[in-house]
Amino acid sequence: MSNNNITYSDIQSIVADDFAIMDKQVFGSLNSKVQLVMSVSKHVIDAGGKRMRPLITLLTARMLDDRQNAQAMELAAITEMLHTATLVHDDVIDASGLRRGRPTANATWDNATAVLVGDYLIARSFNLLVGFSNLPLLKLFSDGTCDIAEGEVLQLQHQHNPEATEDDYLQIIDGKTSRLFMMATKGAGILAGRDDLLEDLGAFAYHFGNAFQIIDDVLDFSGDSEIMGKNLGDDLAEGKPTLPIIKTLQLLKEQGNDDYDKLRVAVQTGKVDNVGKLITMVQSSGALDYCKKRAFDETYAAQNALKNLPDNRYRQGLYELTKLASSRLM
Ligand code: IPE
Ligand code: IPE
Ligand code: MG
Ligand code: MG
Repeated sequence: MSNNNITYSDIQSIVADDFAIMDKQVFGSLNSKVQLVMSVSKHVIDAGGKRMRPLITLLTARMLDDRQNAQAMELAAITEMLHTATLVHDDVIDASGLRRGRPTANATWDNATAVLVGDYLIARSFNLLVGFSNLPLLKLFSDGTCDIAEGEVLQLQHQHNPEATEDDYLQIIDGKTSRLFMMATKGAGILAGRDDLLEDLGAFAYHFGNAFQIIDDVLDFSGDSEIMGKNLGDDLAEGKPTLPIIKTLQLLKEQGNDDYDKLRVAVQTGKVDNVGKLITMVQSSGALDYCKKRAFDETYAAQNALKNLPDNRYRQGLYELTKLASSRLM
C-alpha cells in the first residue's frame, strides 16, 4: 500500500498535468480592470501556498473519471481563489502579519484594501462558476460560502470566551475550514454526475478538513514559523478559543491548578504579557496530546469514508494526503 516517504510533490505528480494547468488558472482567471485588485491578488497567489484544496478537487475528479476534464481544472482553480479570499479576510480579522512567508495583504496595504480585494476574489469566483451553467454546483458553492462566512462570524463571537466548548469549536471549524474541503470533493462529484457518491465524498472531506484545522491549531503552539510561513502564537494573542486552549482550560480546571485563572483571564482580556509562559502552560498540560488524538480520529474517519469510493491511484493519492497532513504532528 503506502510507504512513509511519500511527499506532497509525489501526490501532486499523480495529477501533474492537471495541476500545472490549474495553477496557471488561479491568477490567470483574474481579469480586473483595476490595477490594485490585480497587484494585491498577485501578491497573495504568487506567494505559493500548498494548493491543497484544488489538489483534492483534481484527485477526486480523476478518481471518478480518469480523463482530463477542463471543467474540473477550472473548478479546482476556483476553490483556490475562494480559499485565497478567506485567507486575505482571515488575516484582517486575526490581525496577522505573515502569510505564505510574505507580509499579509493587510500589512502590505491596509485592512480596507484587503477586505475589498477579498470580496472581489469571492465575487470573481462566482462569476466563473456561473459559466458552468450548473445549478446544483452553484448551489453547493453558494451554500458553502455562506457556511464559511458563518464559521468565521461564530469564531469572532467566541473570541475572548473562555467558556467556549469543544462543540462550539467543532461548529466553527466545520464552517470555516471543512466546508471548503467538502465543496472541493462534492463539486468534482457533481461535475462527474456521481450524485450517488456525494455523501461519501462529503464525509471524507468533512473529516479531513476537521483533522487539518485541529493540526493547524496544534501547530500554532508547537510548529515552526519558518516552515508554516506564518507567525505562531497568534491564536492565543487573539484570545481565540481553539481546541488546544479549550482543552488546556478544562484540564487545569479539573486539576485545580492555579494556572487556570491566568489562562482564563488571558483569553478573556487578550492581555498577554508573557506569551511564552502561556504557550508552555498549553504545551505541558497534556492538551496537545488530546488534540493530536482527535486529529488522528478525524483522519481515520476520513480514510474510512474513502473505502466507499472507487479504488484507484487517485484514491490512494487522497489517502496519502490525509496521512501526510496528520504526519505534520509526528
Ligand atoms: C490555511 O490553509 C488555513 C487553514 C485552514 C488552517 P493552508 O495551510 O492550506 O494554507 P496555504 O494555502 O497552504 O497557504
Ligand atoms: C483558518 O483559520 C482560516 C480559514 C479557514 C479562513 P486560522 O486563522 O487558524 O488560519 P491561519 O492559522 O491564519 O492560517
Ligand atoms: Mg488566522
Ligand atoms: Mg491557525
